[in-house]
Amino acid sequence: MSKGKLEKFAMISEYKNVVEPSMEEAMHLGIALKGKWKQEFFKNNNPITVELACGGGEYTVGMAAMYPERNFIGVDIKGNRIWKGATKAIQENLPNVGFLRTRIDFIANCFAKNEVDEIWITFPDPQMNKNRRRKRLTNKLFLSRYSQFLKNGGKMRLKSDSDFFYAFTKEIIEEKGLQILFDCDDIYSKYTPQNPDSELTKELSLKTFYEKMWLSEGKTIKYIEYTLDDFKIEEGEPLF
Ligand SMILES: C[S@@+](CC[C@H](N)C(=O)[O-])C[C@H]1O[C@@H](n2cnc3c(N)ncnc32)[C@H](O)[C@@H]1O
Repeated sequence: MSKGKLEKFAMISEYKNVVEPSMEEAMHLGIALKGKWKQEFFKNNNPITVELACGGGEYTVGMAAMYPERNFIGVDIKGNRIWKGATKAIQENLPNVGFLRTRIDFIANCFAKNEVDEIWITFPDPQMNKNRRRKRLTNKLFLSRYSQFLKNGGKMRLKSDSDFFYAFTKEIIEEKGLQILFDCDDIYSKYTPQNPDSELTKELSLKTFYEKMWLSEGKTIKYIEYTLDDFKIEEGEPLF
């Protein structure tokens, strides 16, 4: 019989690879691991990749298996989804995986300046309704949060099925004059790599739960990489 939500919540509260800050820590105080993920959680000095909206953590776990010399942290609010990724990481004996259960709204209280080398956002809800624009994970408010801990030169990496969300993200990139490092609106038909062993090809071979669903419905997958270097919000500038 499959496990219920409560059972999964109880399990992750015991898992060593899951961090569940209190509301007080996440919203106000900052979490105890802020600035200390490498030393205290991973116990190494390897670079950190954060996957936002990680759901079942397919990227976090898949990338951790590909790159044992790097650390990966999946972030999501849904405990039952985190349970899936955290359980898989335990079964696969991957010490370089962590999961952080929090609202991404509080992410700047979870990491210190320059602590993170890259940020993946995998198949975020596009939040197409205008009233939901403050919840779009690539709006200026969220970017201002990420810029507080993403290293200079660090990459933002977005995979999405949504034409709307992809166009919205590119509008923000253009408005803020951010540097695009790679951009493709249909990775699986247009991106035919010259070198099949390239890192990108390897990484794009990972498919998330939602991605598989969208692919089975015939949707095309968009992928964009950009930096947040010199990202600044002017005084009084609207954030969404
Ligand atoms: C469409 S699912 C994608 C999950 C996974 N990346 C995939 O591709 O299968 C979006 C995920 O984002 C999470 N999410 C959305 N907004 C969030 C927020 N503000 N804080 C934390 N998690 C959020 C949801 O809980 C959900 O698991």
